Amino acid sequence: MARSASQTTQALRDIGPDLRLPFAARLRLPLLNRFAAASGIRIPPLRLWATVSRVTRPSIIQRSFGPDFLALEGVCATELTSILDDAERLLPCAVGDAPAARVLEGKLIANLFFEDSTRTRVSFEIAARRLGAEVVNLSASGSSASKGESLVDTSRNIEAMGVDCLVVRCAISGGAALVAANVRCAVVNAGDGRHEHPTQGLLDLLTLRRHLGNLRGKRVAIVGDIANSRVARSTTHGLVALGAQVVAVGPPALVPSSWGALVSGENISISHDMDSIIGEIDAIIMLRIQTERAADRGVAPDYRFAYGLTEARRRRLRPDALILHPGPMNRGVEIDDAVADDAFSSVIFEQVSAGVAVRMAILSRVCGRR
Ligand code: CP
Repeated sequence: MARSASQTTQALRDIGPDLRLPFAARLRLPLLNRFAAASGIRIPPLRLWATVSRVTRPSIIQRSFGPDFLALEGVCATELTSILDDAERLLPCAVGDAPAARVLEGKLIANLFFEDSTRTRVSFEIAARRLGAEVVNLSASGSSASKGESLVDTSRNIEAMGVDCLVVRCAISGGAALVAANVRCAVVNAGDGRHEHPTQGLLDLLTLRRHLGNLRGKRVAIVGDIANSRVARSTTHGLVALGAQVVAVGPPALVPSSWGALVSGENISISHDMDSIIGEIDAIIMLRIQTERAADRGVAPDYRFAYGLTEARRRRLRPDALILHPGPMNRGVEIDDAVADDAFSSVIFEQVSAGVAVRMAILSRVCGRR
């Protein structure tokens, strides 16, 4: 039913943070501008944009893929397969064996890294450059974040310089979505607190798919600091969406029983006994203990003996089982040197190459849509 101008005016005044307003969800910026002008409401431009941001950018959970890429939760198998197919095609370009189409020529991508990174930041930069984009990098140290400027203010300032996409890493769970709700350019989550690291999830999926083929029915163990791991969350969402089984392994302090409810269905199980599952899996993803999130509290000093992928445990893996680690590795703690460098089973450095390819696929999608 059509609304009168006064009803619309009231609705505009009433719009709050509730993302579920059915009316508000249908509004778009030009419509809001027209009604604001016609009905004489004075809405400061930033307030207007904040309003539109709230009504057109639903929650972090529901909105994983739009003009932004914020999470793997909620991304369906078809979409995942399409991204992975793109990344597979881009892999030779990603590793420099073939020239890439410069589909992002004229685009400017800003890497905003408020937490340290080696792989993710560099691979986003390489991915962007291989596609012809220009890149600027900002980290917390050396920026005005050290003077107290907020994540959102920093992002809005960088956006105001005309960037097309912000790649955001931060310690705040939900931080990337917060940025997305406050800027107009595309936002890609490069790891936000304990929430998600969706491009890491994709690169894990690509690496596994290249070796194991269809992941439906495959059994993947993720071992270690599950509770604090955004990698575990993203990779698990992706694996379950593609029909794989995930077993989360670690001490109770790091693998809470609530974690099994991360996704509905029977595809996640929990084990506190690594030796009981080691011979039954197609792949094992080792995680480090995130001391920066105080995850070492309550963890026994003999962690390596209970949950480390030692040489003795590697021998008990199936001969074709794969060993993955998102990095950075703490050699001698969660993974032994000889296991990390095992020429047959370890695909840890293949993961890094796959990371450039999936980031090329994601950047071309999000920047191409604007
Ligand atoms: N896997 C990963 O996110 O590594 P970095 O912290 O080095 O980016």
